[in-house]
Amino acid sequence: MSAASFAKALALSHGSKPWVTKMITGVASNTGAFLSWLKSGADICVRHPKRTVLQSALFCSLMFAAMLQDPPFSGRFAVAPMLDWSDRHFRYFVRLLSKHAMLYSEMVTTGALIHGDAPRHLDFDPSENPLVLQLGGSNAQELAQCARLGEQWGYSEINLNVGCPSDRVQNNMIGACLMAHPQRVADGVKAMRDAVDIPVTVKHRIGINGRDSYEELADFVDTVANAGCGHFIVHARIAILEGLSPKENRDIPPLRYDIARQLRKDFPALQFTLNGGIKTLEACAEHLEHFDGVMLGREAYANPWLMREVDERLYGLPGHNPQTRTEVLLAMREYIERHCQQGGKVVHVTRHLLGIAQGFPGARRFRQLLSADIHRTDSPLQVFDQAIEVLQGR
Ligand SMILES: Cc1cc2nc3c(=O)[nH]c(=O)nc-3n(C[C@H](O)[C@H](O)[C@H](O)COP(=O)(O)O)c2cc1C
Repeated sequence: MSAASFAKALALSHGSKPWVTKMITGVASNTGAFLSWLKSGADICVRHPKRTVLQSALFCSLMFAAMLQDPPFSGRFAVAPMLDWSDRHFRYFVRLLSKHAMLYSEMVTTGALIHGDAPRHLDFDPSENPLVLQLGGSNAQELAQCARLGEQWGYSEINLNVGCPSDRVQNNMIGACLMAHPQRVADGVKAMRDAVDIPVTVKHRIGINGRDSYEELADFVDTVANAGCGHFIVHARIAILEGLSPKENRDIPPLRYDIARQLRKDFPALQFTLNGGIKTLEACAEHLEHFDGVMLGREAYANPWLMREVDERLYGLPGHNPQTRTEVLLAMREYIERHCQQGGKVVHVTRHLLGIAQGFPGARRFRQLLSADIHRTDSPLQVFDQAIEVLQGR
C-alpha cells in the first residue's frame, strides 16, 4: 500500500470529513511539495518581516491549494503499443524525452506468456513506468493468469488488444475480430479485474466490416464497461478483416474522430483515449478538449523529438525537457553499454533511434550510419559515436 492510500485509509477509518481526507492524502502523496510549501512560508517570514501575516498566509494557502489539485489523468498522452517497435529499448528512449507519457508494451499473447519465455516478454527498466502491458487473447482464465503476471512484474495497467486485424491473430480469436464478441471480451475483462488491483483497459476499433454501425459499437462499449473496464482506447477507424494487411488497415479505412467523440458524449462516466493519425502536439491539445487522452503510434516512432515537450505542454508538469538530441543520445550510449554487458547487441537499441534526426541537415547521414554502416562493422559503438557527432549540439 502506498503512503497515499495508507493516509486515505487512516483518515477514512477515523470518520474524517472529505476535505480532511483529501488534505492528509495530498500531503502524503506530495511530501516533497508539502515540505517546500512549509519552507517557502518560513522564507517569506524571515526575508520579509514587514509583510503582513495575512499576505504570507494567503500566498501559502494558494500554493497548498495548487498542491492538492488532483494530478492530471496519467493517460493524457500515450505512446501506442507497436509490435517490434515499442520494445523496452524504444520505451527507455522515450522515457528520456517524457517523464509522464503513458507507455505501452508490444502486444504479448497469452500463449506466449504462459508457454514461452515470460521474463523475455515482461522485463523492463523501472524508469519505463507508467507502463501498460498489452495482452492479446480471449480465454478469460488465461487472460486473468497473464494479468496477474503483469501486475506482479510491476506494470501499471493491463490493456486488452481488440484492434489488431492480422489473420494470424484472428485465427486464435485475438484482436479486432473480438469486436463481434462483446460478451467474450467482457468475460475476459471481468476475469482480469477480479485477478488484479491495477486498471484493466481495452484498445479497440470503431467497428469491423459487417459490424460497423454506431449501435453495435455502443453495445460493445456498454457490455465491456459493465464488466469493469472504465477506460477505452479508440483507434478511430474500422478494421477490415479480410483483404487488407495490418499496415493497410492502419491507413485505408477512413478516420472517424466524430464517432469516437460520440462515444465520449454517450458514456460520460468512462474515459476515452483517441488514437489514429495524430501527428502534432497542437493536434493532441485540440483533441484533449474532447477526450481524456490521446495516443500516438507511428508519429511518436518516426519523430520522437516531439515528445520532449509533452510533459510541459500536455500535462502542465515539469519533465526532463532535454535541450539537445546529443544529450539524449549520450544517455542512450550509457544504456547501450549496459545492454551489451548483459549480452545484448548495439543494434537492438540503435534501430529505434533513427527518427530523432528527423528534419535536420545531417539526418540522412545519421540514418545511414545507424541503419547500414553499423551492421557492417566490428565496432558498432564507434559508429554510434560518429552518428552522435553528426547531430552534435542540435
Ligand atoms: C509497427 C506497428 C505495430 C503495431 N502493433 C500493435 C500492437 O501490438 N497492438 C496494438 O494494439 N496496436 C498495434 N499497432 C497499432 C497502433 O497501436 C495504433 O493503433 C495505430 O498505429 C494507429 O495510430 P497512429 O496513427 O498514431 O500510428 C501497431 C502499429 C504499428 C505501426
